[in-house]
Amino acid sequence: MLIIGCSKAQKLAKRVARKLKVEYSKLIVRKFPDNEIYVRFDKNIKNKDIVLIQSFYNNVNDALIETIFAAYTAKDLKAKNVTLVATYFPYFRQDKRFNYGEAVSIEVITKVLCKCLDKIIIINPHLHRKNSLKEVFNIKVKELSANGLIAEYIKKKFKNRVIVGPDRESYRWAERVARIINGDFVILKKKRISAYNVKLSFNKKIDLKNKDIVIVDDIVSTGTTLLKTIKFLRKHKVGRIDCICVHGIFVNNTLKKLEKYCRLISTNTIPNKRSKIDVTNLIAETLISKTI
Ligand code: R5P
Repeated sequence: MLIIGCSKAQKLAKRVARKLKVEYSKLIVRKFPDNEIYVRFDKNIKNKDIVLIQSFYNNVNDALIETIFAAYTAKDLKAKNVTLVATYFPYFRQDKRFNYGEAVSIEVITKVLCKCLDKIIIINPHLHRKNSLKEVFNIKVKELSANGLIAEYIKKKFKNRVIVGPDRESYRWAERVARIINGDFVILKKKRISAYNVKLSFNKKIDLKNKDIVIVDDIVSTGTTLLKTIKFLRKHKVGRIDCICVHGIFVNNTLKKLEKYCRLISTNTIPNKRSKIDVTNLIAETLISKTI
């Protein structure tokens, strides 16, 4: 097995390779003056099991093109197997045509990637209207979940917390984390008015007065959902609020803005200064298991 660190996940890829005691190589990526991307493998990849490790944040589209170039080239140079580990995979939120004429972005990207990959492993994909990765990829897929790691973190750091999921689909992470730690939880109902505006309500009768809370979400991007959730909970006179997310995208100055309201923790699927929960072992164990 040869682990290739793509540009957005080199540190993590190196850690995975070290953990598995397998060969590591960094993907050479450069940009031409007109922003075209240049990609090169530094090692001979013929007949090898190639594992590309990549994440998709900041310049998401550059990362996508880089990954497509790398995967296609690996096949072209006769790698035995090409696997992509996407610690965070983008575009899952555009999984349907909401209005006439829109691109169903996730379908376009996955169709292209399926042409040059044998397997894909994704950590907490934002499966909203889809039930499984098999509905979007027609290659071998494996969905990993950081829920166990988040639950472990909560057990270690907090006592008697009520877990709050900010919207209906958050049962996949908030409710599951709550069940692992055997704690109370409530999932809110969220109506998104626009990227920066959402409306919230409770889905059941619950008294949260003076209760300490951990909000668990998969993605924090603009922070709108989180901020509205915090303001909503405060109206109900809750105690201390902490928030844990899997993928801390934190666009623009979101992190700074949010830190005025709560303490934030994320995993390192997207590296940032709040990524305290490490997914190295989760990836490493999957790569050597026979489950994919
Ligand atoms: C939405 O369905 C997701 O689970 C997140 O709640 C959402 O993507 C967070 O985005 P933002 O931080 O921009 O509100």
